Amino acid sequence: MTIPSRRTFAIISHPDAGKTTLTEKLLLEGGAIHLAGEVKARGANRRARSDWMKIEQQRGISVTSSVMTFERTRDGETITFNLLDTPGHEDFSEDTYRTLTAVDSAVMVIDAAKGIEPQTRKLFEVCRLRNLPIITFVNKVDREGRETFGLLDEVADQLQLDVCPMSWPVGMGGEFEGIYDFATNRLMQPTGPSKEFDGTRHQFTGLDDPKLGDFLSPRALERLREEAELSQGGYASFDLDRYRQGDLTPVYFGSALKLFGVTELIDALAAHAPPPRAQPAEPAAVEPDASEVTGFIFKVQANMDPQHRDRIAFMRLVSGKFKRGMKLTPSGSGKPLAVHSPILFFAQDRELADEAFPGDIIGIPNHGALRVGDTLSEKPGLRFTGLPNFAPEILRRVQLKDPTKTKQLRKALDDLSEEGVIQVFYPEIGSQWIVGVVGQLQLEVLISRLDAEYKVAAVLEPSPFDTARWIGGDDAAIKEMVSYNSANMAKDRDDNLVFMAKSAWDIGYQQERHPKVTFSATRER
Ligand code: G4P
Repeated sequence: MTIPSRRTFAIISHPDAGKTTLTEKLLLEGGAIHLAGEVKARGANRRARSDWMKIEQQRGISVTSSVMTFERTRDGETITFNLLDTPGHEDFSEDTYRTLTAVDSAVMVIDAAKGIEPQTRKLFEVCRLRNLPIITFVNKVDREGRETFGLLDEVADQLQLDVCPMSWPVGMGGEFEGIYDFATNRLMQPTGPSKEFDGTRHQFTGLDDPKLGDFLSPRALERLREEAELSQGGYASFDLDRYRQGDLTPVYFGSALKLFGVTELIDALAAHAPPPRAQPAEPAAVEPDASEVTGFIFKVQANMDPQHRDRIAFMRLVSGKFKRGMKLTPSGSGKPLAVHSPILFFAQDRELADEAFPGDIIGIPNHGALRVGDTLSEKPGLRFTGLPNFAPEILRRVQLKDPTKTKQLRKALDDLSEEGVIQVFYPEIGSQWIVGVVGQLQLEVLISRLDAEYKVAAVLEPSPFDTARWIGGDDAAIKEMVSYNSANMAKDRDDNLVFMAKSAWDIGYQQERHPKVTFSATRER
């Protein structure tokens, strides 16, 4: 099967580094587009987005992941870019992790004045776990920033990555005179009172081209020549294989706000970023050119329109040519599902997808049949691996304000755990349900959504437990361990046995006493 060109990627950054601005400018350059968060939210309904979106607005963070698509023609070939937005807030590492399982590469945005910040680092570690290739974009060079060599060395040292500057800023802030592109020997300069980039690229034969003197001040030119020479001697040269293995990052300088470096970034993604890759699975990894249609669900978003209890499952297509109406079998329910109205996140508005290819993201409307982590395939029996649930770091008891609403609460907790917003644990003894999250903000989202979408008023109380572990191993050993610890046992949403631990010490102690039982901090679905 010939696969059309796709680049499926995410942007990782610390809040405020400029991810939103860069995303907008990429879409603008790409001539699109449409935000998946707005699917179904048309006209008056746009205003009726549920309350938890308000939290998002108030806090200035993005809680949901969305999908944005744009195209670019390069050397006669049309390339489709699928940009998956990752929530930038540290509280959403679990959701972010899952989104990063659905991309083939990442763009790391760094603020030139701040360098590597904690969230950049965390997200980078997740990328490294998956050997995702990373292109670095040093943003805001139109403002006063840190010294260029210092920034590059920080990336190299802190992330233990080889860096390869692909362009160079000619001064920063008040002294900013442009960006010089090493590969093409072109200079981009600020113009007009807004000091934006107007798309004019001045061509030179090289850094020793005397014509450069017509465009740059003598001091800036001398500095550029000096720094360029030093940088070319001091850093690795570009190596496609090393980039694709995640060992080297090409670094582009720019200003998303003033449009510097945006086209270069798209060109870099087109030229270097990997096409859809094989995905690990059982019984065997699936190559993108396999003929059978396969994919996995990395995100479920419910109640986008409060008037309809719809939910959209986001599927990353791994192999095959998907056609509308096709029957796929989810690994969860095992019941074949005809995908009649898939959504592709193309163009100005949502479009019914007639076909899609490996690397594409398809939104599948459903009523709860699809869950995060599900594999979908034409033939049953396949299961993609590597989409874990993480052990929660914060556990809370859910206390209803109105005890007659138990049924609604159970439905809401089940729904929200399917979506991956929270994890829910039903203790074997007692009736108080426990929710688990990896970050505090998820708890606020939970309470707000319970109220807005399910009309359930609830409060969260401290739980006697600190964390949870999924139990596995030898049946007899499990039985014995359970008999000693019945007050600590619970079931998760999928009926898996979970040990609720009071402390890390507790886990160690149980592990010692029951060596044939495994206590796992992640669970693959
Ligand atoms: P985020 O999504 O990573 O959190 O960052 P966002 O794009 O929202 O950018 C954060 C702030 O940085 C915004 O300013 C934005 O305008 C500014 N910014 C982004 N890119 C650049 C750049 O290349 N140069 C300069 N000088 N500024 C940049 P703000 O004042 O917080 O918001 P706004 O009121 O300007 O929108």
